[in-house]
Amino acid sequence: MSTTRANYLYPSIGMGLILASIIFVVVLVPRMTFKPAKPKDLRDYTAQELRGRQIYKREGCWYCHSMVSRPQDWDHGPKSKSSDYFYDEFHLVGSERSGPDLANIGGKFPDQYHMLHHQNPRYVKPGSNMPRFDYLSNQELIDLTSFIQGMGPWGTRAQDPETGKLRYARLEKFTWTTGPLKGTEEVLAKWNLSPEEQEKLNVSRYEQHNEVPYKYKTEIEELLFGTSHEAQAARGTLLNIVDKNKIAGVDVTEESLEKKREEDSTFSAWTEKDFKEPAVEPADPLEVKVLMTKRRYANYGKGLFNNECSACHGLDADGHGQAAFTMTKRPANFWDDKFKNYNVDTWYWRISRGVPSTQMPRWEYTLTAEQRLTLAAFLKYVSQNKGLGKLKGMESDYGKLPSQAAPALPAPAPSVKPSPTLVK
Ligand code: HEC
Ligand code: HEC
Repeated sequence: MSTTRANYLYPSIGMGLILASIIFVVVLVPRMTFKPAKPKDLRDYTAQELRGRQIYKREGCWYCHSMVSRPQDWDHGPKSKSSDYFYDEFHLVGSERSGPDLANIGGKFPDQYHMLHHQNPRYVKPGSNMPRFDYLSNQELIDLTSFIQGMGPWGTRAQDPETGKLRYARLEKFTWTTGPLKGTEEVLAKWNLSPEEQEKLNVSRYEQHNEVPYKYKTEIEELLFGTSHEAQAARGTLLNIVDKNKIAGVDVTEESLEKKREEDSTFSAWTEKDFKEPAVEPADPLEVKVLMTKRRYANYGKGLFNNECSACHGLDADGHGQAAFTMTKRPANFWDDKFKNYNVDTWYWRISRGVPSTQMPRWEYTLTAEQRLTLAAFLKYVSQNKGLGKLKGMESDYGKLPSQAAPALPAPAPSVKPSPTLVK
Protein backbone atom coordinates (compact mmCIF):
# COMPACT_ATOMS: atom_id res chain seq x y z
CA MET A 1 0.00 0.00 0.00
CA SER A 2 1.42 3.26 -0.94
CA THR A 3 0.79 6.45 0.95
CA THR A 4 1.12 9.79 -0.71
CA ARG A 5 2.14 12.57 1.60
CA ALA A 6 2.15 16.19 0.67
CA ASN A 7 5.68 17.52 0.38
CA TYR A 8 5.81 20.87 2.18
CA LEU A 9 9.50 21.49 1.70
CA TYR A 10 9.53 23.15 -1.74
CA PRO A 11 6.39 25.25 -1.25
CA SER A 12 7.75 26.56 2.04
CA ILE A 13 11.09 27.47 0.48
CA GLY A 14 9.18 29.19 -2.33
CA MET A 15 6.96 31.15 0.04
CA GLY A 16 9.92 32.07 2.19
CA LEU A 17 11.64 33.45 -0.89
CA ILE A 18 8.53 35.41 -1.89
CA LEU A 19 8.28 36.87 1.61
CA ALA A 20 11.98 37.74 1.65
CA SER A 21 11.75 39.48 -1.71
CA ILE A 22 8.68 41.47 -0.58
CA ILE A 23 10.54 42.56 2.54
CA PHE A 24 13.52 43.42 0.37
CA VAL A 25 11.49 45.54 -2.07
CA VAL A 26 9.10 47.17 0.39
CA VAL A 27 11.36 47.67 3.42
CA LEU A 28 15.05 47.39 2.60
CA VAL A 29 15.28 49.03 -0.82
CA PRO A 30 13.44 52.22 0.23
CA ARG A 31 15.52 52.35 3.38
CA MET A 32 18.80 52.06 1.48
CA THR A 33 17.82 54.42 -1.32
CA PHE A 34 16.00 57.13 0.67
CA LYS A 35 18.62 59.88 0.82
CA PRO A 36 16.82 63.20 0.95
CA ALA A 37 18.86 66.36 0.47
CA LYS A 38 19.95 68.12 3.63
CA PRO A 39 17.32 70.77 4.19
CA LYS A 40 18.31 74.42 4.21
CA ASP A 41 15.12 75.46 5.95
CA LEU A 42 15.34 73.20 8.98
CA ARG A 43 17.87 72.76 11.75
CA ASP A 44 18.67 69.50 13.55
CA TYR A 45 16.88 68.54 16.76
CA THR A 46 18.29 69.68 20.07
CA ALA A 47 18.86 67.11 22.80
CA GLN A 48 15.70 68.31 24.48
CA GLU A 49 13.65 67.95 21.32
CA LEU A 50 15.01 64.44 20.84
CA ARG A 51 13.86 63.58 24.36
CA GLY A 52 10.44 64.96 23.42
CA ARG A 53 10.44 62.90 20.25
CA GLN A 54 11.18 59.81 22.31
CA ILE A 55 8.17 60.57 24.53
CA TYR A 56 6.02 61.15 21.46
CA LYS A 57 7.04 57.70 20.25
CA ARG A 58 6.75 56.02 23.66
CA GLU A 59 3.29 57.41 24.45
CA GLY A 60 1.97 56.36 21.07
CA CYS A 61 0.96 59.83 19.96
CA TRP A 62 1.63 58.59 16.44
CA TYR A 63 -1.20 56.07 16.70
CA CYS A 64 -3.60 58.97 16.44
CA HIS A 65 -1.54 61.72 14.79
CA SER A 66 0.19 61.68 11.44
CA MET A 67 3.14 63.94 10.63
CA VAL A 68 2.86 64.36 6.91
CA SER A 69 0.85 66.90 4.97
CA ARG A 70 -0.14 65.44 1.61
CA PRO A 71 -1.15 67.33 -1.55
CA GLN A 72 -4.81 66.51 -0.95
CA ASP A 73 -4.73 67.87 2.63
CA TRP A 74 -5.69 71.36 1.58
CA ASP A 75 -6.26 72.70 5.07
CA HIS A 76 -3.14 71.29 6.73
CA GLY A 77 -0.69 74.01 5.70
CA PRO A 78 2.29 73.53 3.37
CA LYS A 79 2.88 70.06 1.94
CA SER A 80 5.62 67.92 3.49
CA LYS A 81 8.73 67.27 1.40
CA SER A 82 11.19 64.42 1.78
CA SER A 83 13.92 66.69 3.18
CA ASP A 84 11.63 67.39 6.18
CA TYR A 85 12.55 63.89 7.36
CA PHE A 86 16.31 64.27 6.91
CA TYR A 87 17.01 64.30 10.65
CA ASP A 88 14.45 61.61 11.50
CA GLU A 89 15.73 58.21 12.45
CA PHE A 90 13.23 56.66 11.91
CA HIS A 91 10.28 58.79 10.81
CA LEU A 92 7.05 59.11 12.79
CA VAL A 93 4.79 59.72 9.83
CA GLY A 94 2.03 57.53 11.21
CA SER A 95 -0.86 56.14 9.24
CA GLU A 96 -3.95 57.14 11.18
CA ARG A 97 -5.57 60.47 11.84
CA SER A 98 -7.80 60.13 14.85
CA GLY A 99 -6.41 63.53 15.74
CA PRO A 100 -5.22 66.25 13.37
CA ASP A 101 -2.00 66.02 11.40
CA LEU A 102 0.89 67.61 13.32
CA ALA A 103 3.38 68.20 10.50
CA ASN A 104 2.85 71.98 10.68
CA ILE A 105 1.79 72.35 14.30
CA GLY A 106 4.84 74.33 15.53
CA GLY A 107 4.13 77.96 16.32
CA LYS A 108 0.41 77.60 15.83
CA PHE A 109 -0.30 77.91 19.55
CA PRO A 110 1.73 79.25 22.46
CA ASP A 111 3.75 76.86 24.63
CA GLN A 112 1.32 77.22 27.51
CA TYR A 113 -1.48 75.98 25.30
CA HIS A 114 0.39 72.75 24.55
CA MET A 115 1.44 72.25 28.17
CA LEU A 116 -2.19 72.43 29.27
CA HIS A 117 -3.44 70.48 26.28
CA HIS A 118 -1.01 67.62 26.88
CA GLN A 119 -1.90 67.45 30.55
CA ASN A 120 -5.60 67.36 29.82
CA PRO A 121 -6.95 68.39 26.41
CA ARG A 122 -10.25 69.40 28.06
CA TYR A 123 -8.47 72.28 29.83
CA VAL A 124 -8.23 74.16 26.54
CA LYS A 125 -10.65 72.32 24.28
CA PRO A 126 -13.94 71.42 25.90
CA GLY A 127 -15.25 68.24 24.32
CA SER A 128 -11.88 67.05 23.02
CA ASN A 129 -11.58 63.27 22.94
CA MET A 130 -7.79 63.13 23.06
CA PRO A 131 -6.59 61.22 26.13
CA ARG A 132 -4.96 63.07 29.02
CA PHE A 133 -1.23 62.67 29.69
CA ASP A 134 -1.12 64.24 33.14
CA TYR A 135 0.96 61.36 34.51
CA LEU A 136 3.96 62.77 32.60
CA SER A 137 6.43 64.70 34.73
CA ASN A 138 6.86 68.44 34.27
CA GLN A 139 10.16 67.77 32.57
CA GLU A 140 8.54 65.35 30.15
CA LEU A 141 5.73 67.77 29.34
CA ILE A 142 8.25 70.48 28.55
CA ASP A 143 10.38 68.18 26.40
CA LEU A 144 7.31 67.02 24.51
CA THR A 145 6.16 70.59 23.96
CA SER A 146 9.54 71.67 22.64
CA PHE A 147 9.40 68.79 20.14
CA ILE A 148 5.86 69.69 19.03
CA GLN A 149 6.80 73.37 18.68
CA GLY A 150 9.64 72.45 16.33
CA MET A 151 7.38 70.96 13.66
CA GLY A 152 6.80 72.69 10.34
CA PRO A 153 7.59 75.99 8.68
CA TRP A 154 6.39 78.15 11.60
CA GLY A 155 8.14 76.10 14.23
CA THR A 156 11.29 76.66 16.24
CA ARG A 157 13.37 74.53 13.85
CA ALA A 158 12.44 76.55 10.78
CA GLN A 159 15.38 78.44 9.30
CA ASP A 160 15.60 81.06 6.66
CA PRO A 161 17.15 79.16 3.71
CA GLU A 162 19.18 82.23 2.67
CA THR A 163 20.66 83.33 5.97
CA GLY A 164 20.42 80.10 7.96
CA LYS A 165 18.91 82.07 10.86
CA LEU A 166 15.91 80.87 12.85
CA ARG A 167 12.79 82.22 11.23
CA TYR A 168 10.13 82.97 13.79
CA ALA A 169 10.92 81.59 17.16
CA ARG A 170 13.62 82.41 19.60
CA LEU A 171 14.74 79.83 22.15
CA GLU A 172 14.48 81.01 25.70
CA LYS A 173 14.62 79.91 29.29
CA PHE A 174 11.13 78.80 30.09
CA THR A 175 9.47 79.79 33.31
CA TRP A 176 6.06 78.52 34.09
CA THR A 177 4.33 80.99 36.34
CA THR A 178 0.72 79.88 36.46
CA GLY A 179 -0.88 76.54 37.17
CA PRO A 180 0.64 73.48 38.76
CA LEU A 181 4.07 73.85 37.10
CA LYS A 182 6.59 76.26 38.56
CA GLY A 183 9.90 77.82 37.63
CA THR A 184 11.52 75.18 35.47
CA GLU A 185 14.79 76.22 33.93
CA GLU A 186 14.29 74.48 30.63
CA VAL A 187 14.69 75.94 27.21
CA LEU A 188 11.52 76.39 25.23
CA ALA A 189 10.40 78.37 22.23
CA LYS A 190 9.25 81.92 22.51
CA TRP A 191 7.55 83.72 19.66
CA ASN A 192 8.88 87.20 20.02
CA LEU A 193 7.17 88.84 17.12
CA SER A 194 5.91 92.40 17.06
CA PRO A 195 2.16 92.74 16.42
CA GLU A 196 2.92 93.72 12.81
CA GLU A 197 5.14 90.67 12.26
CA GLN A 198 2.53 88.49 13.92
CA GLU A 199 -0.09 89.90 11.57
CA LYS A 200 2.17 89.25 8.58
CA LEU A 201 2.62 85.67 9.66
CA ASN A 202 -1.12 85.29 10.02
CA VAL A 203 -1.68 86.73 6.57
CA SER A 204 0.80 84.34 5.03
CA ARG A 205 -1.00 81.43 6.66
CA TYR A 206 -4.33 82.76 5.54
CA GLU A 207 -3.07 82.79 1.97
CA GLN A 208 -2.33 79.09 2.16
CA HIS A 209 -6.03 78.75 1.67
CA ASN A 210 -6.65 78.03 -1.98
CA GLU A 211 -10.19 79.31 -1.98
CA VAL A 212 -10.93 83.00 -2.29
CA PRO A 213 -13.70 84.73 -0.37
CA TYR A 214 -16.50 86.76 -1.95
CA LYS A 215 -16.94 84.19 -4.69
CA TYR A 216 -19.35 81.86 -3.05
CA LYS A 217 -22.51 83.04 -4.71
CA THR A 218 -23.13 79.60 -6.14
CA GLU A 219 -23.60 78.09 -2.68
CA ILE A 220 -26.39 80.52 -1.86
CA GLU A 221 -27.85 79.99 -5.32
CA GLU A 222 -27.93 76.28 -4.67
CA LEU A 223 -29.98 76.98 -1.55
CA LEU A 224 -32.25 79.36 -3.49
CA PHE A 225 -32.99 77.00 -6.37
CA GLY A 226 -31.81 73.54 -5.32
CA THR A 227 -34.10 70.56 -4.83
CA SER A 228 -31.97 68.79 -2.22
CA HIS A 229 -33.52 68.23 1.18
CA GLU A 230 -31.01 70.62 2.73
CA ALA A 231 -31.80 73.40 0.26
CA GLN A 232 -35.53 73.03 0.76
CA ALA A 233 -35.19 73.10 4.54
CA ALA A 234 -33.01 76.22 4.44
CA ARG A 235 -34.93 78.22 1.84
CA GLY A 236 -37.56 79.69 4.14
CA THR A 237 -34.85 81.07 6.40
CA LEU A 238 -32.76 82.31 3.50
CA LEU A 239 -35.67 84.29 2.09
CA ASN A 240 -35.95 86.09 5.41
CA ILE A 241 -32.32 87.18 5.17
CA VAL A 242 -32.16 88.14 1.48
CA ASP A 243 -34.63 89.33 -1.15
CA LYS A 244 -34.94 87.31 -4.31
CA ASN A 245 -34.24 89.58 -7.29
CA LYS A 246 -36.78 90.08 -10.03
CA ILE A 247 -36.53 90.05 -13.80
CA ALA A 248 -39.38 91.95 -15.42
CA GLY A 249 -41.29 91.84 -12.16
CA VAL A 250 -40.98 88.05 -11.74
CA ASP A 251 -38.70 86.23 -9.23
CA VAL A 252 -35.51 84.93 -10.83
CA THR A 253 -35.29 81.22 -11.52
CA GLU A 254 -32.24 79.16 -12.33
CA GLU A 255 -32.95 79.46 -16.08
CA SER A 256 -33.81 83.14 -16.14
CA LEU A 257 -30.68 83.87 -14.10
CA GLU A 258 -28.51 82.05 -16.60
CA LYS A 259 -29.98 84.06 -19.49
CA LYS A 260 -29.70 87.33 -17.61
CA ARG A 261 -26.05 86.64 -16.78
CA GLU A 262 -25.22 86.39 -20.47
CA GLU A 263 -26.19 90.06 -20.81
CA ASP A 264 -24.93 91.22 -17.43
CA SER A 265 -22.34 88.98 -15.78
CA THR A 266 -22.64 90.76 -12.42
CA PHE A 267 -26.36 90.18 -12.02
CA SER A 268 -27.12 88.44 -8.75
CA ALA A 269 -30.01 86.17 -7.83
CA TRP A 270 -30.65 88.10 -4.64
CA THR A 271 -30.27 91.44 -2.90
CA GLU A 272 -28.86 91.70 0.60
CA LYS A 273 -31.26 92.73 3.36
CA ASP A 274 -30.00 95.44 5.64
CA PHE A 275 -29.83 94.46 9.33
CA LYS A 276 -29.17 97.94 10.65
CA GLU A 277 -31.48 99.15 13.42
CA PRO A 278 -33.29 102.38 12.52
CA ALA A 279 -32.43 105.48 14.56
CA VAL A 280 -36.08 105.81 15.65
CA GLU A 281 -38.44 102.90 16.15
CA PRO A 282 -40.87 102.92 13.20
CA ALA A 283 -44.57 103.54 13.70
CA ASP A 284 -45.84 102.01 10.49
CA PRO A 285 -47.07 98.48 11.34
CA LEU A 286 -45.59 97.00 8.19
CA GLU A 287 -42.15 98.42 8.96
CA VAL A 288 -42.47 97.19 12.54
CA LYS A 289 -43.22 93.71 11.26
CA VAL A 290 -40.19 93.73 8.94
CA LEU A 291 -37.95 94.93 11.74
CA MET A 292 -39.24 92.36 14.22
CA THR A 293 -38.69 89.56 11.69
CA LYS A 294 -35.07 90.62 11.21
CA ARG A 295 -34.46 90.71 14.95
CA ARG A 296 -36.12 87.36 15.27
CA TYR A 297 -33.84 85.69 12.73
CA ALA A 298 -30.76 87.32 14.23
CA ASN A 299 -31.94 86.05 17.59
CA TYR A 300 -32.20 82.47 16.38
CA GLY A 301 -28.55 82.80 15.39
CA LYS A 302 -27.68 84.37 18.72
CA GLY A 303 -28.83 81.29 20.63
CA LEU A 304 -26.74 79.05 18.44
CA PHE A 305 -23.79 81.43 18.66
CA ASN A 306 -23.92 81.42 22.47
CA ASN A 307 -23.78 77.64 22.47
CA GLU A 308 -21.29 76.95 19.70
CA CYS A 309 -19.13 80.01 19.16
CA SER A 310 -19.01 82.16 22.29
CA ALA A 311 -16.23 80.13 23.98
CA CYS A 312 -13.91 81.67 21.40
CA HIS A 313 -15.71 84.68 19.93
CA GLY A 314 -17.24 85.85 23.22
CA LEU A 315 -20.87 86.20 24.33
CA ASP A 316 -20.95 89.69 22.82
CA ALA A 317 -19.31 88.44 19.59
CA ASP A 318 -16.39 90.81 20.21
CA GLY A 319 -13.67 88.13 20.07
CA HIS A 320 -13.12 87.92 23.83
CA GLY A 321 -14.24 84.39 24.60
CA GLN A 322 -12.60 82.64 27.54
CA ALA A 323 -10.66 80.30 25.21
CA ALA A 324 -9.29 83.15 23.08
CA PHE A 325 -6.18 83.69 25.21
CA THR A 326 -4.73 80.34 24.19
CA MET A 327 -4.66 81.20 20.51
CA THR A 328 -1.92 82.74 18.42
CA LYS A 329 -4.51 83.77 15.87
CA ARG A 330 -7.25 85.37 17.91
CA PRO A 331 -10.91 84.76 17.11
CA ALA A 332 -12.54 87.45 15.01
CA ASN A 333 -14.21 90.47 16.62
CA PHE A 334 -17.45 90.91 14.72
CA TRP A 335 -17.88 94.53 15.83
CA ASP A 336 -15.05 95.37 13.50
CA ASP A 337 -15.97 97.73 10.66
CA LYS A 338 -14.65 95.41 7.98
CA PHE A 339 -17.44 92.95 8.67
CA LYS A 340 -20.16 95.47 7.86
CA ASN A 341 -19.72 94.75 4.18
CA TYR A 342 -19.77 90.98 4.34
CA ASN A 343 -22.52 89.51 2.19
CA VAL A 344 -24.55 86.51 3.16
CA ASP A 345 -22.45 84.34 0.83
CA THR A 346 -19.23 85.42 2.51
CA TRP A 347 -20.58 84.74 5.99
CA TYR A 348 -22.00 81.42 4.90
CA TRP A 349 -18.76 80.39 3.23
CA ARG A 350 -16.59 81.36 6.19
CA ILE A 351 -18.77 79.63 8.75
CA SER A 352 -19.04 76.52 6.57
CA ARG A 353 -15.34 76.14 5.76
CA GLY A 354 -13.73 77.58 8.88
CA VAL A 355 -10.38 79.33 8.73
CA PRO A 356 -7.53 76.92 7.94
CA SER A 357 -4.48 77.13 10.22
CA THR A 358 -6.57 78.63 13.00
CA GLN A 359 -8.84 77.13 15.62
CA MET A 360 -11.94 78.19 13.68
CA PRO A 361 -13.77 74.94 12.96
CA ARG A 362 -15.34 73.87 9.70
CA TRP A 363 -18.99 74.03 10.69
CA GLU A 364 -20.47 72.39 7.61
CA TYR A 365 -19.70 69.06 9.26
CA THR A 366 -21.81 69.75 12.32
CA LEU A 367 -24.38 72.46 11.54
CA THR A 368 -27.17 72.32 8.97
CA ALA A 369 -27.40 74.88 6.17
CA GLU A 370 -30.34 76.50 7.95
CA GLN A 371 -28.35 76.85 11.18
CA ARG A 372 -25.40 78.39 9.33
CA LEU A 373 -27.77 80.88 7.72
CA THR A 374 -29.21 82.00 11.06
CA LEU A 375 -25.63 82.50 12.26
CA ALA A 376 -25.02 84.63 9.18
CA ALA A 377 -28.09 86.70 10.10
CA PHE A 378 -26.81 87.18 13.65
CA LEU A 379 -23.33 88.19 12.47
CA LYS A 380 -24.80 90.63 9.96
CA TYR A 381 -26.81 92.15 12.78
CA VAL A 382 -23.83 92.39 15.14
CA SER A 383 -21.47 93.88 12.55
CA GLN A 384 -23.96 96.43 11.23
CA ASN A 385 -25.05 97.56 14.69
CA LYS A 386 -21.65 97.25 16.38
CA GLY A 387 -22.91 94.96 19.08
CA LEU A 388 -25.96 93.07 20.25
CA GLY A 389 -28.23 96.12 19.96
CA LYS A 390 -31.86 95.22 20.51
CA LEU A 391 -31.13 91.51 20.72
CA LYS A 392 -30.37 91.71 24.42
CA GLY A 393 -33.20 90.27 26.42
CA MET A 394 -35.05 88.80 23.44
CA GLU A 395 -34.72 85.24 24.61
CA SER A 396 -37.98 83.65 23.45
CA ASP A 397 -36.47 82.27 20.23
CA TYR A 398 -33.19 81.40 21.88
CA GLY A 399 -31.34 78.67 20.02
CA LYS A 400 -34.39 77.46 18.14
CA LEU A 401 -34.46 76.81 14.45
CA PRO A 402 -36.85 78.99 12.49
CA SER A 403 -38.47 75.89 10.99
CA GLN A 404 -39.24 74.58 14.50
CA ALA A 405 -40.30 77.86 16.03
CA ALA A 406 -43.71 79.44 16.42
CA PRO A 407 -45.29 81.11 13.35
CA ALA A 408 -44.25 84.64 12.49
CA LEU A 409 -45.13 87.37 14.93
CA PRO A 410 -48.50 88.94 14.21
CA ALA A 411 -48.32 92.55 13.15
CA PRO A 412 -49.09 94.84 16.09
CA ALA A 413 -52.43 96.63 15.89
CA PRO A 414 -52.06 100.03 14.21
CA SER A 415 -51.76 102.69 16.83
CA VAL A 416 -54.87 104.83 16.72
CA LYS A 417 -54.10 108.46 17.00
CA PRO A 418 -56.88 110.42 18.69
CA SER A 419 -58.48 112.48 15.97
CA PRO A 420 -58.22 116.19 16.61
CA THR A 421 -61.97 116.64 16.44
CA LEU A 422 -62.47 114.46 19.51
CA VAL A 423 -60.12 116.46 21.66
CA LYS A 424 -61.91 118.96 23.73
C1 HEC B 1 -6.41 58.36 21.11
C2 HEC B 1 -5.93 59.28 20.13
C3 HEC B 1 -4.92 60.33 20.49
C4 HEC B 1 -3.70 60.18 21.08
C5 HEC B 1 -3.07 58.91 21.62
C6 HEC B 1 -3.09 61.48 21.10
N1 HEC B 1 -3.92 62.39 20.55
FE1 HEC B 1 -3.47 64.34 20.25
N2 HEC B 1 -5.35 64.64 19.49
C7 HEC B 1 -6.31 63.66 19.35
C8 HEC B 1 -7.55 64.28 18.92
C9 HEC B 1 -8.84 63.54 18.65
C10 HEC B 1 -7.29 65.66 18.80
C11 HEC B 1 -8.27 66.75 18.40
C12 HEC B 1 -8.96 67.31 19.62
C13 HEC B 1 -8.05 68.23 20.38
O1 HEC B 1 -7.45 69.10 19.77
O2 HEC B 1 -7.92 68.08 21.61
C14 HEC B 1 -5.90 65.85 19.17
C15 HEC B 1 -5.24 67.07 19.16
C16 HEC B 1 -3.89 67.25 19.40
C17 HEC B 1 -3.17 68.50 19.26
C18 HEC B 1 -3.79 69.82 18.89
C19 HEC B 1 -3.83 70.03 17.43
C20 HEC B 1 -4.66 71.25 17.07
O3 HEC B 1 -4.57 71.63 15.90
O4 HEC B 1 -5.36 71.80 17.93
C21 HEC B 1 -1.87 68.27 19.61
C22 HEC B 1 -0.72 69.24 19.61
C23 HEC B 1 -1.78 66.89 20.01
N3 HEC B 1 -3.03 66.30 19.86
C24 HEC B 1 -0.63 66.28 20.46
C25 HEC B 1 -0.60 65.00 20.97
C26 HEC B 1 0.52 64.42 21.64
C27 HEC B 1 1.85 65.15 21.88
C28 HEC B 1 0.18 63.16 21.99
C29 HEC B 1 0.99 62.15 22.76
C30 HEC B 1 1.47 62.53 24.04
C31 HEC B 1 -1.17 62.94 21.51
N4 HEC B 1 -1.61 64.07 20.91
C32 HEC B 1 -1.84 61.72 21.64
C33 HEC B 1 -6.15 62.31 19.55
C34 HEC B 1 -5.05 61.73 20.15
C1 HEC C 1 -12.23 77.19 18.94
C2 HEC C 1 -12.45 78.59 18.73
C3 HEC C 1 -13.53 79.04 17.76
C4 HEC C 1 -14.84 78.66 17.73
C5 HEC C 1 -15.57 77.66 18.62
C6 HEC C 1 -15.44 79.42 16.68
N1 HEC C 1 -14.52 80.23 16.09
FE1 HEC C 1 -14.84 81.46 14.52
N2 HEC C 1 -12.89 81.94 14.48
C7 HEC C 1 -11.94 81.49 15.37
C8 HEC C 1 -10.65 81.98 14.98
C9 HEC C 1 -9.33 81.73 15.71
C10 HEC C 1 -10.85 82.73 13.79
C11 HEC C 1 -9.79 83.37 12.94
C12 HEC C 1 -9.85 84.83 13.00
C13 HEC C 1 -9.23 85.43 11.78
O1 HEC C 1 -8.98 84.72 10.81
O2 HEC C 1 -9.05 86.63 11.82
C14 HEC C 1 -12.27 82.68 13.52
C15 HEC C 1 -12.87 83.31 12.44
C16 HEC C 1 -14.23 83.30 12.19
C17 HEC C 1 -14.86 83.92 11.05
C18 HEC C 1 -14.14 84.61 9.90
C19 HEC C 1 -13.87 86.03 10.13
C20 HEC C 1 -13.19 86.62 8.94
O3 HEC C 1 -12.17 87.30 9.12
O4 HEC C 1 -13.66 86.40 7.80
C21 HEC C 1 -16.21 83.72 11.16
C22 HEC C 1 -17.29 84.21 10.23
C23 HEC C 1 -16.41 82.95 12.37
N3 HEC C 1 -15.19 82.71 12.96
C24 HEC C 1 -17.64 82.55 12.82
C25 HEC C 1 -17.79 81.60 13.82
C26 HEC C 1 -19.06 81.01 14.15
C27 HEC C 1 -20.40 81.38 13.54
C28 HEC C 1 -18.81 80.09 15.12
C29 HEC C 1 -19.81 79.18 15.81
C30 HEC C 1 -20.67 78.38 15.00
C31 HEC C 1 -17.40 80.13 15.41
N4 HEC C 1 -16.81 81.04 14.60
C32 HEC C 1 -16.78 79.34 16.34
C33 HEC C 1 -12.15 80.68 16.45
C34 HEC C 1 -13.35 80.03 16.73
